[in-house]
Amino acid sequence: MEKKQVVIIGAGISGLLACKYCLSKGFNPIVFESQSDIGGVWAKTIRTTRLQSFKGSFQFSDFPWPSSVTQDYPTQHQLLNYLRSYATRFDLMNHIQFNSVVKGIEYDGPPTPSRETFPQGKWKVTVENSQSTKVHDADFVILCVGRFKDFPNIPEFAPGAGPEVFRGKMIHSMEYAAMDHQEAEEFIKGKSVVVVGFQKQGLDIAMECSSVNGKENPCTILYRNDRWKLPDFSPWGIPLSYLYFNRFSELLVHKPGEGFLLGLLATILSPLRWGISKLVETHVKKKSPLAKFDMVPKCSFSKDLRSGLVSIMPEDFFNRVETGSILLKRSPGFSFYQDGILIDGENKPTLADIVILATGFKGIQKLQSIFMSQDLRDFIAPSPDSRVPLYRECIPPRIPQVAIIGFSESISNLFTSEMRCRWVVELLDGTFKLPSIKEMEKDISNWDEYMKQSAGEYHQRSVLAAIDIWYNDQLCKDMGWNHRRKNGMWAELFEPYGPMDYIS
Ligand SMILES: Cc1cc2nc3c(=O)[nH]c(=O)nc-3n(C[C@H](O)[C@H](O)[C@H](O)COP(=O)(O)OP(=O)(O)OC[C@H]3O[C@@H](n4cnc5c(N)ncnc54)[C@H](O)[C@@H]3O)c2cc1C
Ligand SMILES: NC(=O)c1ccc[n+]([C@@H]2O[C@H](COP(=O)([O-])OP(=O)(O)OC[C@H]3O[C@@H](n4cnc5c(N)ncnc54)[C@H](OP(=O)(O)O)[C@@H]3O)[C@@H](O)[C@H]2O)c1
Repeated sequence: MEKKQVVIIGAGISGLLACKYCLSKGFNPIVFESQSDIGGVWAKTIRTTRLQSFKGSFQFSDFPWPSSVTQDYPTQHQLLNYLRSYATRFDLMNHIQFNSVVKGIEYDGPPTPSRETFPQGKWKVTVENSQSTKVHDADFVILCVGRFKDFPNIPEFAPGAGPEVFRGKMIHSMEYAAMDHQEAEEFIKGKSVVVVGFQKQGLDIAMECSSVNGKENPCTILYRNDRWKLPDFSPWGIPLSYLYFNRFSELLVHKPGEGFLLGLLATILSPLRWGISKLVETHVKKKSPLAKFDMVPKCSFSKDLRSGLVSIMPEDFFNRVETGSILLKRSPGFSFYQDGILIDGENKPTLADIVILATGFKGIQKLQSIFMSQDLRDFIAPSPDSRVPLYRECIPPRIPQVAIIGFSESISNLFTSEMRCRWVVELLDGTFKLPSIKEMEKDISNWDEYMKQSAGEYHQRSVLAAIDIWYNDQLCKDMGWNHRRKNGMWAELFEPYGPMDYIS
């Protein structure tokens, strides 16, 4: 039987994986990548960015990190080289068309009369490069377009209080990250910089500003909420993976579709769950002067972890706050005036030459933008506050000839994308079939419920952290694999799971 024509959009980590697994099953995919290189977000980062995930959890199951990379948290450069070696090893480059922007994909087949589902048909993929615009046919499209690029989240301001009145420069972190390192340094040198946003990108940029400008021109970080930022990954000497990423830790939390007994067990064990969170919190408070700077988060550590809001604090950060090269300001909002910003709750304006918005991205809009028809865009975002409804976090049930990889996140996105690509390719190869739309939507609603409980207002991030094994079990069962991958009961219960547990 003739194999389906698969088109993959994006050659970041997810796109490379999708390509590799398609090839392994005899498909001949075409990958369209808008940039001139592989790597996606890793192709260009700010100077100091390195992997935040432990490298053992962020590696391809059949292609470990080379022994020459000795650091646990490799640099951007090392990661990019690793991705290049992977692409070479599995001969992926020949399948990628670079500098090829997918302008949109259009469903080409009969919808059901009510336009509620789009079950059969092909896709028309419109691709633009420097020479021409062409339309390619595809039976199946795998979207690997990422969520942390291209569509910045810019706060809204009242008329006359936005960047239009500011005489300095306002940019998004995305633009800062796109600069050459030397250019970025010159951009901030000798300037009063305000960084808005205090997750990883904001933190890294503020560290760079303070390195370049010292306390003569301190960098102000303006942020809304305190989050747990870890000084290391081993609270009280216990690796975090033993507290949150083994089967035992998953017994302590409610899981989507868990059934009565597992639900009861999670309820009975909830004091232990609370205790583990406290254990981590006391460690962080002991090692970092959170109380001194009034930065103890209101949320528990466990909640921040499940919401994907935990990051690593650079070693020297609090020294820089102490010595005055970083100023911290917490406020729910701000506005611009001609010479800087006005922080809600402060009487004095804050002077600034540059404001860098490290305020994250609009990943859902990015995903929607790939679909040309409004009907299909509506399936991706049924309402402004809904999650992207994906079966197994991969397939929109009503548009089943498209898969989305790399949208919902975890503690190691490479690992998660690899598992999903394997599942999608087994689906394409006919190893299993999708259940009915109704069953898929029921399953999605169970996961919605879980995400709302675990991540609250951040549920749209669709973070899997802390129930990855439960999720991977479902993928394994669909594919007909044994989901228990360890040797012996003890290891099965207490050893953390990682990519190498899923070697074929
Ligand atoms: C600075 C930074 C550091 C991070 N660190 C970590 C970490 O330590 N651990 C972790 O687990 N996660 C981390 N992440 C999350 C990161 O998103 C994932 O690790 C992973 O790299 C995502 O890969 P991806 O292929 O899904 O998406 P991306 O890397 O975003 O790749 C998407 C690709 O699609 C291409 N593309 C998009 N639209 C089109 C189009 N219309 N036509 C053609 N091509 C298109 C883009 O050019 C890009 O190459 C980090 C993210 C950032 C931004
Ligand atoms: N490996 C690394 O070292 C590294 C480096 C950079 C980025 N990353 C990853 O890249 C991804 C994106 O990171 P990111 O830092 O760009 O984005 P992010 O994680 O989405 O964080 C956005 C930040 O902006 C704030 N914010 C959002 N809207 C705001 C508004 N209207 N006003 C004020 N503040 C606002 C948020 O505050 P609230 O918390 O109050 O919502 C948050 O602090 C993450 O997954 C991150 O882990 C990793």
